[in-house]
Amino acid sequence: MTSLLRIVRFTRALAPLYIAIIACSVLTAVAGLAVPFLIGHATDTVAGAVDEQGGTGTAVRTVVLIAAAVLAAELAVTVISNVGGWFGDVMSNRMRTILSVRYYDKLLHLPQRWFDGEITGTIVARLNRSITEITNFTKMMSNSFASMLITTAAVLAISAWYAWPLTVLLLIVFPVYVWLTSLTSVKWQRLEGEKNEQIDIASGRFAEVVGQIRVVKSFVRERGELADFSRRFRSTDATTRAQSSHWHRMDVIRRAFLNLIFFGIYVIIFVRTVQGQFTIGEMVLLIQLMAMAKAPVESMSWVIDSAQRAIAGSKDYFRVMETPVDPRTAAVMAARPTDAADAGHASGTVADGEGVDGHADDRAPAPVLTVSPEIEAVPGAPVVAFRGVDFAYEDGEDVLHEIDFAVARGEKIALVGESGGGKSTIVNLLLGLYEPRRGSIEVVGRPSAELPLDQLRSRIGVVFQDASLFSGSIRENIAYGRPEASEEEVVDAARRANADTFIRRFPAGYEQVIGERGLKLSGGQRQRIAVARAMLKDAPVLVLDEATSALDTKAEIQVQKGLEELMAGRTSLIIAHRLSTIAGVDRIITLSDGRIDEIGSPAELAASGGIYAQLLDLQSAGNKKKLATFDITG
Ligand SMILES: Nc1ncnc2c1ncn2[C@@H]1O[C@H](COP(=O)(O)OP(=O)(O)OP(=O)(O)O)[C@@H](O)[C@H]1O
Ligand SMILES: [Mg+2]
Repeated sequence: MTSLLRIVRFTRALAPLYIAIIACSVLTAVAGLAVPFLIGHATDTVAGAVDEQGGTGTAVRTVVLIAAAVLAAELAVTVISNVGGWFGDVMSNRMRTILSVRYYDKLLHLPQRWFDGEITGTIVARLNRSITEITNFTKMMSNSFASMLITTAAVLAISAWYAWPLTVLLLIVFPVYVWLTSLTSVKWQRLEGEKNEQIDIASGRFAEVVGQIRVVKSFVRERGELADFSRRFRSTDATTRAQSSHWHRMDVIRRAFLNLIFFGIYVIIFVRTVQGQFTIGEMVLLIQLMAMAKAPVESMSWVIDSAQRAIAGSKDYFRVMETPVDPRTAAVMAARPTDAADAGHASGTVADGEGVDGHADDRAPAPVLTVSPEIEAVPGAPVVAFRGVDFAYEDGEDVLHEIDFAVARGEKIALVGESGGGKSTIVNLLLGLYEPRRGSIEVVGRPSAELPLDQLRSRIGVVFQDASLFSGSIRENIAYGRPEASEEEVVDAARRANADTFIRRFPAGYEQVIGERGLKLSGGQRQRIAVARAMLKDAPVLVLDEATSALDTKAEIQVQKGLEELMAGRTSLIIAHRLSTIAGVDRIITLSDGRIDEIGSPAELAASGGIYAQLLDLQSAGNKKKLATFDITG
């Protein structure tokens, strides 16, 4: 329940809508309550006219007037309840917007570690369910709960006026019914949770399979994936059977109980009417009132049911919302000028993707817009320094041990080592995606952990090992870090990354849409776009993690030229398996099993007999062999 109150507090901005909805439902209830009185009155008039035999003229006029009043009351109910419904729709959509935007905002600021443990499709499925259940419930509550409450209170008061035993019986019905319903609901919800878990796992896999359909197809795993998916869904059948039979058994009990109570109520009404304590009109009035009281009781099960779903949903929601963000991220968030969700006018466009995009473009700040004050470099300090860093992704297993090196301003450093040796991990740490377990990282002479993350990251241009592009156009991808970049700047970055030629070959040129994660591009094309993206960011520190690994030698040489131009005057950290690409660096750091093995200039390390020298031998031997093969066949 507290989680529901939190939702209300969370969506304070909607208070005027809540009030409008409640006002509408109060009016609906009042207008609705007039009807049984009018019908009761009509019944008495009719009965009186029938008894008197004659004098029907006035009675006819009276009943026609009453019918007109009933019409007026019912029309009022129709109109007002629809106005309330409109407010309800607007409110629930706004609520969905607020909850979704906040959730997304939160997700975007969770630490990398959190994402490592989650599956995209599962996160999305869970979010959708929580938010749907919360908004459905609030919509239902606001549209019907207030009027239900008023109707019930009025019925109780009126019945107490006519015959208190009726009130007593009604007063028994409510709590017992609520109790029976919540008993039902607890077990029902638990089973629902089990089902959801299976469905979330299936949805997670579903999204993964769709995202990597090529692999699925190439390994002919369609049947297998489908079988897993349907097994998960089918496993919910048994749960549903148990769940439903429990629910329906309990429903028989509570409805039978309700029927029993109403038996008592009808007996009282009928007997007393026969005894002359009530007129026929009063009997009709009471029967209608009792019928009106029955509706809230019966819908109680629905209310409680959806309340519990909403509670479960909001718990899921808040579990994510409460995940601690890294305090450094929190600082950046707090410093942001506006909160898109609080602005509240992100209205009504969440359901439609284009609307959201349009909206986001209007309001959202540029992704790397830094809000923290500019950090000052400590004079003479290395631009990047790792000081005795130990690091583990998971408890126990250290991936890096005692990493200690410094990169001076303008220096080009290469990281060399076997696959899995921890090179990309060093990049992750430098970007502040993870915190070292021991030791520290310094950037421009300041402990990286104390730098605002936006400042830190805006200083580092990075080409990741996997090109990681987005759906959308090539231009959007290149300008991702600087959406405000001019046409010339985008084209210039593309040209330097040797991408301009192939981009222009597309029918739509820079507007070419490249599919999810850039699926419609070749691996080398993706890499060149990623290089152009980093070039356009124009950051003082450049990190290249296998930035040209997918390119052929010719393209690589061309990109390399662009990169060298870019690296001039910049501090660079380069990871490359192909040693030819790092021949021109100032120093090489070799890594072995997460430890630094050697640090030195390419010439020094080539002569030292260490990892670099061995790799160099292997690669030149490989090249010679290739050449030899070429000679024979050529
Ligand atoms: N997110 C992660 N969670 C847990 N372990 C990880 C994660 N990322 C990498 N690792 C592990 O950390 C180790 C180092 O990985 P890293 O990606 O740094 O290697 P690398 O030197 O970049 O290798 P490569 O040359 O193949 O890219 C590997 O053993 C890997 O299994
Ligand atoms: Mg790597």
